[in-house]
Amino acid sequence: MKMKFDGLLMIPGPVHLHERIIRAMSRQMIGHRGKEFSEIMEYCVEGLKELFGTKNDVYIISGSGTAGLEAAIASFSKLRRITCIDNGKFGDRLGRIASRYTEVDVVRFEWGKPVDLEVVENSLAEGSEALAFVHNETSTAMLNPAKELAKLAKKYDALVIMDGITSVGGDEVKMDKWGIDVAIVGSQKCIGIPPGLAAVAVNDNAWNYYSESCPFYLDLAAYRKKLADMQTPYTPAVPLFFALEEALRIIEEEGLENRIKRHRLLSKAVREWAGEAGLRIFPEPDELSDYSNTVTAIRMPEGVTDRDLRGTLLGEYGITISGGQEHLKGRIFRIGNMGNIGKRQMIATLAAVQDVLMRYNACRPALHAAIEILKEL
Ligand SMILES: Cc1ncc(COP(=O)(O)O)c(C=O)c1O
Repeated sequence: MKMKFDGLLMIPGPVHLHERIIRAMSRQMIGHRGKEFSEIMEYCVEGLKELFGTKNDVYIISGSGTAGLEAAIASFSKLRRITCIDNGKFGDRLGRIASRYTEVDVVRFEWGKPVDLEVVENSLAEGSEALAFVHNETSTAMLNPAKELAKLAKKYDALVIMDGITSVGGDEVKMDKWGIDVAIVGSQKCIGIPPGLAAVAVNDNAWNYYSESCPFYLDLAAYRKKLADMQTPYTPAVPLFFALEEALRIIEEEGLENRIKRHRLLSKAVREWAGEAGLRIFPEPDELSDYSNTVTAIRMPEGVTDRDLRGTLLGEYGITISGGQEHLKGRIFRIGNMGNIGKRQMIATLAAVQDVLMRYNACRPALHAAIEILKEL
């Protein structure tokens, strides 16, 4: 196979890497029980706290986002029943993880449609002691109302577990203020480093639900114990810590507010372009939910296949975008703007997508509005 070095990854994770992050990983190994590693870890933990909006502990696990989800759910599973919201693939996954550890009530909504708080409340009222949901549902590109969901859960004194895998670091997350007890992020998303690390932020309340019947590797009590020495219980993915440290320095330099604003402008530009091009956005948020600020899902135009669009885009331009998942395969395409993506990459992506779709008479030329929005960056 021909090697490609100039590709552009515009999927909702893993993301195109900042040059500084690539360089940060290219260095000699260090021991994970030494002072240098502890200093790196301390910087990473403090930086992640900012992204989560918490003053509580943050545990870093070597594993993908799902390892973080399973660690969170399994470690805090001493409860009778958990309500899991499913309005997309990752909500569905939460329910499937939770069902291994406790009784689950899955509250389902059509993918791409908003959650109905009344239905969630009924489930909580029927005796759930926890609520788990996805903040930014990547499969449908919709932002669920985290603050309102947490408030509702607290009315029933329920533990709140939030999958923030594709929101933390790219959108506003105020864990402590919103009343979220446990939140999870994955490294290859808005933080902008390669896949392989998950971070779990945990408040004191969550420990009331601690259960030893969790997988050994994912037992958060072991991570808590080792955090006192700024270490991890088992050998971590050290090069990813080098990357994480650099990513958090980049975030500090950019400023979290500016970073969130950049993500918002980039996704707004995609939506504006799609609207003007005559394409239809997939999710249908209500007044409480919103379009995702880190990924955009667009309905595949009539007469265009996934291969026509994504295959040509990759073959001719070296740009990768995502398709739909599960029953949305072939029905939507998704453009990610997570991490350190700038206007240059976004304009190139939209122009290339437009070029391919125009060959099928499937869209109008419409870059003007997107370019105007991106001038702010
Ligand atoms: C919202 C959400 N949750 C969970 C996951 C699973 O993360 P991972 O693939 O890193 O295990 C993803 C991955 O795309 C995601 O977007």
